[in-house]
Amino acid sequence: SKGNHRHYMLKEIYEQPIVVAQTLRSYVRRLEGEIAMPAADFDLTAVNRVTIVACGTSFYAGMVAKYWFEQFARVPVDIDVASEFRYREPVLEPGGLALFISQSGETADTLAALRHARQAGQTIAVVVNVPTSTMAREADLLLPTHAGPEIGVASTKAFTCQLAVLAAFAANLARAKGRLSDEEERRIVRHLSEAPAALNAALAYDEAIEAVAAQIVNARDVLYLGRGPDYPLALEGALKLKEISYIHAEGYAAGEMKHGPIALIDESVPVVVIAPSGPLFDKTVSNMQEVQARGGRVILISDYDGVEQAGENCLATLTMPKVHPLIAPLVYAVPVQLLAYHVAVAKGTDVDQPRNLAKSVTVE
Ligand code: M6R
Repeated sequence: SKGNHRHYMLKEIYEQPIVVAQTLRSYVRRLEGEIAMPAADFDLTAVNRVTIVACGTSFYAGMVAKYWFEQFARVPVDIDVASEFRYREPVLEPGGLALFISQSGETADTLAALRHARQAGQTIAVVVNVPTSTMAREADLLLPTHAGPEIGVASTKAFTCQLAVLAAFAANLARAKGRLSDEEERRIVRHLSEAPAALNAALAYDEAIEAVAAQIVNARDVLYLGRGPDYPLALEGALKLKEISYIHAEGYAAGEMKHGPIALIDESVPVVVIAPSGPLFDKTVSNMQEVQARGGRVILISDYDGVEQAGENCLATLTMPKVHPLIAPLVYAVPVQLLAYHVAVAKGTDVDQPRNLAKSVTVE
């Protein structure tokens, strides 16, 4: 049931601190500072390439994970949307791990890609939320998320749980390959363990986010910008908004704006900038200023330091808790989800059951 919440989507957004904690319990031993993984019956040390395949929101979780696999494990990662994967005739060599991410475990495109990769001799890992699903059954390595049933068509809690599993798995691969010191492992476990409380803190800004949503309700187009591991969040923010509010939205890598999309900027196009403070902050802010210099109205989502430093000329700012860059993609998912949610509610759309969409897409 929806409990006290008006929609399943809202209930599921609010469940995130709990279900992420629940998921993490299977992947990290907090007190020991260790990653704990389901046993794999293949040799992880032999993995020399990871190919990630998924659709929609699960694909964006994969895009974030690419950063982690490459950063921690120094293993090259290829990533595709499932509907494109087979048709580009991917080069799949021995030693390759193919990683499929799916809430439902039934998405036809992803399943077809999984079978293609299996045929091509890849080891199959699956991050899936429905443990009885077809993908779960066909995996060599099953990495379940413990988000519980997700009813809203817009995926929310499955996404943050996927990120939690993927971060732990990337660290685990790094460890298997001898590329993670005990100290680094402890640090990663500590940061991941901070995620549930940080998600809670982000949820506390719900009212502020609702107020910002009022600035978007009448827009025809909205742009989302992010950099590095927060770039996929820009894509996710845009997907959430178009899916449930029917407002046209696009996500871009912040630095890509100047290569074309900046031509769209005027005062009628709100630009949501996702920029937690950290190593990429200054670069994203200079992209944001390029937008502002052309009359663009910016909604900046950052933390206290970021908002202090760059919030001055913005249409609105949202202050998230200050978190380590590793967990920023989990924490910043919250404002992006709530923003879409409140815009949709204000527009009066059917939030849980948007037009033309199904929870699980079982045709190719
Ligand atoms: O069940 P899956 O994770 O395989 O579903 C993939 C996409 O269909 C799904 O994430 C879709 O994009 C959502 N409706 C987004 O909110």
